[in-house]
Amino acid sequence: MSSTIELPKLYEQAADFMPLLGTDYIEIYVSNALQAAYFYKAALGFSSFAYSGLSTGNTEKESYVVIQDKIRIVLTSPLKSGTAIGKHIDKHGDGVKTVALWVDDATKSYEEAMKRGGRSFMEPTVLEDASGKVVQSGIYTYGETVHMFIERKAYSGVFLPGFEKWESHFNPPSVGLKYVDHMVGNVELGAMNTWVKFYEEVMGFTQIISFDDKDISTEYTALMSKVMSNGNGRIKFPINEPADGKKKSQIEEYLDFYEGPGVQHIAVATDNIIETVTELTNRGIQFLRVPTTYYDTLTDRVGEIDEDIEPLKELGILVDRDDEGYLLQIFTKPIEPRPTLFFEIIQRKGATSFGQGNFKALFEAIEREQALRGTL
Ligand code: FE2
Repeated sequence: MSSTIELPKLYEQAADFMPLLGTDYIEIYVSNALQAAYFYKAALGFSSFAYSGLSTGNTEKESYVVIQDKIRIVLTSPLKSGTAIGKHIDKHGDGVKTVALWVDDATKSYEEAMKRGGRSFMEPTVLEDASGKVVQSGIYTYGETVHMFIERKAYSGVFLPGFEKWESHFNPPSVGLKYVDHMVGNVELGAMNTWVKFYEEVMGFTQIISFDDKDISTEYTALMSKVMSNGNGRIKFPINEPADGKKKSQIEEYLDFYEGPGVQHIAVATDNIIETVTELTNRGIQFLRVPTTYYDTLTDRVGEIDEDIEPLKELGILVDRDDEGYLLQIFTKPIEPRPTLFFEIIQRKGATSFGQGNFKALFEAIEREQALRGTL
């Protein structure tokens, strides 16, 4: 099967038993939340938003919440040994624990998911403080990753009960990141269709795109990918599994180092990728590079685009086109010691796809990095 894109019709087919309003937050378990928050602010352009820890009466864990436009990232570390968070970090390294979804009714979302075979992470729980109440519930997805359902219509506080506003004099300017475009999960060989079924049956998502190993492969390795979307198209979760190759694929490398399935990358959108990537580069973020020959035939492949080719080439930004328009994208190197989680920066100019035309060039770039790490 090769890629097919007919989004509006497919979005309508997605079941609406679980209406999702958007991504509420992403929680990453890290070994040092204080220092991670500094990286997210200084290098990635986030601002201080909310805090929970010893000074708010939380003796178990410390969380810093950073924000950039609609993107909220919660960075959490344990305050003592032997905790579930500490074990998660020991096994996986720093990694995404929670992809929280904003819903109108967290109790109904949980019941619908459980009725359809979801695995419980947290029964509906009411959290209250002087600013009102939040209802939250959660189910497991692949590996130890969870989806929380967050109902906040009766809450006017800064983030969640238990958090206070994080006041800091250090808030470097935004780099122009706007919202989460999609989040990709890596699962084990043979498990992709299980998780496609999970998103279809338990969450009411629809598969909108698929690539197989003929679409995305190099001489050595390959991957297969299917993209799942919710009914209104705001939440998109591509799922990758490794395909057989002569050498270890980047997905296998991830699974080895993460010690199981998990979130591979978070794609965040900007309205001006040249400005955003220039600023991120100035702040020390390192991106994957494709050979400059990629740009020699760019216009032949994607047609006329608004941007000059020269800055794209200088920064290493990739371009791809589908029936509806084009997109610009670039991938950071992993942002922790293990070659696991990374970010994608994406600007959509009409295109609703995921840059499959770039996968081969990228795949080769990732393999060069793997070879340098000695893990190919
Ligand atoms: Fe992506």
